[in-house]
Amino acid sequence: MKSISGKTAQWIWVTVAMAAAAFAAGQGGDEAARGERIMNNSCLGCHDLRPIQTQAFDAEGWTMKVNAMIEKGAQVSTDDLPILANFLARSYGPLPEGAGKAVLLNRCTVCHDLQRIRRHPSDAEGWEDTLSTMLNEGAMLTDQEFAILVNYLSRNFR
Ligand code: HEC
Ligand code: HEC
Repeated sequence: MKSISGKTAQWIWVTVAMAAAAFAAGQGGDEAARGERIMNNSCLGCHDLRPIQTQAFDAEGWTMKVNAMIEKGAQVSTDDLPILANFLARSYGPLPEGAGKAVLLNRCTVCHDLQRIRRHPSDAEGWEDTLSTMLNEGAMLTDQEFAILVNYLSRNFR
């Protein structure tokens, strides 16, 4: 096999570095919008958002899950996969373990994603107020779930 000359290798390196820089510059808003578009096109043909909203994976976990979906028939190109996985991890990302995790995923992801919650650190009193507001908005929580959530949120998001 012919080896790559120094010059070619350097050219390849520069090209890759430029592509990485362009990729980084495109991140943020564009990147999130693209991730959401890929999800809408590729992930909602067989089921709605609920199974996605009730998971909490990091990018690696989402990559594995998307690959499992591709085996079931979902269509995601190799280029789109990391963008989708990053979007999913940002919107439906990992949560600390604890009794409140399941309640949060089941009850609090119906109307908005978890970013709302991550952006809103508070103490126990603040979370009680927020949860009362959510009950008024139409969230469904038993008294027991309310108490579990206040505990979980004020410990992990404050
Ligand atoms: C071809 C049909 C199909 C498409 C398209 C599809 N899924 Fe699924 N998905 C399923 C089925 C069927 C299940 C039910 C779980 C099972 O039976 O293993 C499921 C379940 C899930 C679950 C629940 C966890 C689990 O494994 O049970 C998640 C999360 C999920 N899908 C994410 C996605 C994402 C993200 C995409 C887009 C890349 C996607 N799905 C696209 C068929 C599909
Ligand atoms: C029935 C729909 C619904 C459900 C379910 C729901 N929310 Fe909300 N949530 C809303 C709406 C609507 C807003 C925006 C309210 C506003 O901007 O005044 C919101 C906003 C928020 C905010 C931001 C508040 C702020 O002041 O910026 C937080 C935090 C929040 N929700 C947490 C939760 C938690 C925790 C749960 C689970 C118990 C939950 N939500 C369930 C509808 C819902």
